[in-house]
Amino acid sequence: MILELDYIKGFIRMATDGFNKGWHERNGGNLSYRMKPEEVEESRIYFDSIGKWVNIDADVPSLAGEYFIVTGSGKYFHNIESNPIESIGIIQIDDSGRRYRIVWGLNNGGIPTSELPTHLLNHAIKKRVTNNMHRVIYHAHTTNIIALTFIIPLKDEVFTRQLWEMATECPVVFPEGVGVVPWMVPGGSAIGIETSKLMEKYNVVIWAHHGTFCSGVSFDLAFGLMDTVEKSGEILVKVLSMSNTKLQTITEENLHDLANAFKVDLNVNAFEI
Ligand code: 13P
Ligand code: ZN
Repeated sequence: MILELDYIKGFIRMATDGFNKGWHERNGGNLSYRMKPEEVEESRIYFDSIGKWVNIDADVPSLAGEYFIVTGSGKYFHNIESNPIESIGIIQIDDSGRRYRIVWGLNNGGIPTSELPTHLLNHAIKKRVTNNMHRVIYHAHTTNIIALTFIIPLKDEVFTRQLWEMATECPVVFPEGVGVVPWMVPGGSAIGIETSKLMEKYNVVIWAHHGTFCSGVSFDLAFGLMDTVEKSGEILVKVLSMSNTKLQTITEENLHDLANAFKVDLNVNAFEI
């Protein structure tokens, strides 16, 4: 049974964890995983719903022939665990990197997430810049980060510095910082191109007034990154709600001490705000 394979169990567990966090109202958010060759091989006997080739609305030649497990468009994260074969599916990319077809799941007429261009463009960048390591792209409607995009300037270095300051673990978990995309129409290649440009240097990209994208090697790392960033956002919302001024904070010197202790390179731009 395909649903007993480890990568599918990991995918479903992550989606359910995200729902339980409150990040996936209705059909909000989406998740994709670039399958390993051995996972494709162990799954092949279950590929039973081969669909027709469909344009991706993005060119991803470096992903030609790859397989992804993805959430479906309009599907609720809440239903993924109880009804996976209608809520999620496996797609194959063609030899040109311009089309996909469904090979398993998304039963009864489902299609991949409307954010497929962003997911695949991010996967293409991450496959290159992480030397094939990153496999998970995750989009969540993170309540506190969304709230902050109404009051914090939409600049990478400003968001980065504010989020780093809110919890000591943050500079260690995302030393490269976070990118910010101003408000754009979602669901197409334009926002996907802007996001993937930022994914060249960040593992976290915030969409103003919409949500957050994270990239990671594994389900745990991508989820843990989203959780850390959103928790930092929650602390910032609480601090700003209490007072306009901080009596004390994690200082620039503290940040440098952390970087030395944990041997991470902090994005220097966040010190020039
Ligand atoms: P989908 O249901 O198409 O994945 O869209 C949800 C979403 O969050 C769009 O940004
Ligand atoms: Zn969204």
